[in-house]
Amino acid sequence: MNQLETLKNNYKNELTAIKNLKDLEEFKVKYLGKKGVLKELLKDLGNMDPSKRSEYGKEINLLKQEIEENINIVFIKLKEEEKKLKIMNEKIDVTIPGKRTEIGSIHILSFVQKEISKIFLNMGYTIAEGPEVELDYYNFEALNIPKNHPARDTQDTFYINDEVLLRTHTSPVQIRVMKSQKPPIKIISPGRVYRADEVDATHSPIFHQVEGLLIDKGITMSDLKGTLEVFAKSFFGNQTKVRFRPHHFPFTEPSAEVDISCIFCGGKGCRTCKGEGWIEILGAGMVHRNVLLNCDIDPEIYSGFAFGMGVERIALLKYSIEDMRLFYENDIRFLKQFR
Ligand code: PHE
Repeated sequence: MNQLETLKNNYKNELTAIKNLKDLEEFKVKYLGKKGVLKELLKDLGNMDPSKRSEYGKEINLLKQEIEENINIVFIKLKEEEKKLKIMNEKIDVTIPGKRTEIGSIHILSFVQKEISKIFLNMGYTIAEGPEVELDYYNFEALNIPKNHPARDTQDTFYINDEVLLRTHTSPVQIRVMKSQKPPIKIISPGRVYRADEVDATHSPIFHQVEGLLIDKGITMSDLKGTLEVFAKSFFGNQTKVRFRPHHFPFTEPSAEVDISCIFCGGKGCRTCKGEGWIEILGAGMVHRNVLLNCDIDPEIYSGFAFGMGVERIALLKYSIEDMRLFYENDIRFLKQFR
């Protein structure tokens, strides 16, 4: 009987101390389980005085019921608490600052390429594309640069084999277009080009160009000059002057290198233009009659001009960037400036 009394007192303390369902389950096993405390007490019944036996048995059963009821009460209470906790944890605190999603932006080179293209699209040009892995024939031969021509030295490239290479300029697109379209032709061709150059502040084995080609009846050098002047003024500002210097390209005749008045000093001479007052921006000329003939276009009927500019060169200039490698390193701190 004494044992029963202490048990009655102890289990309550133990039960009220329980804070979670797992502990409650353990408690239940401990008291009511097959090898539980109450089962042990029942075992003692056999050794008891028969007169006390039934009363003792009753007491144990009552205690069992009592414990079951109390477990149930605690169970309901703990269940309720668990639910509340869950709801609390799932509640969204709308006052917490949100996580910012970083929005990327177009790369400065793509941007400049698009800006250049836009100016020509506005003048009625359309965009033509050609492969970066190109035939020697389109990259050199058809552009009036035969094998062993010294012009190949300045455009040394990566050869896939004797006939296939990575294009050194966007000019092969001229040939592809002239062979597949009849004049009038008016295209630009932006794209990636390759040369076996060492990397430095102004060179990269991969860079970008925008080619231009216009073929029609009666096209003269003054059309070329006017076109490039419109481009230079649109891109660099209305005060920009354009100058042509005689040059040689095998695929144009006459050929010119085209300068703009220095956009930093306005032509007075400064560090950027090395005191010249002028900065070279592209190569151009009247399409060579051999090139027209290679494409079955009659040079007695048609004439035209072509030009090619380096996108990196123009971007460096426009944004006063000193080192071309910055374009390719993809340092966010650099790129972010051109958002
Ligand atoms: N393809 C020449 C180069 O990469 C540029 C150019 C294009 C010159 C068209 C004249 C006409 O240097």
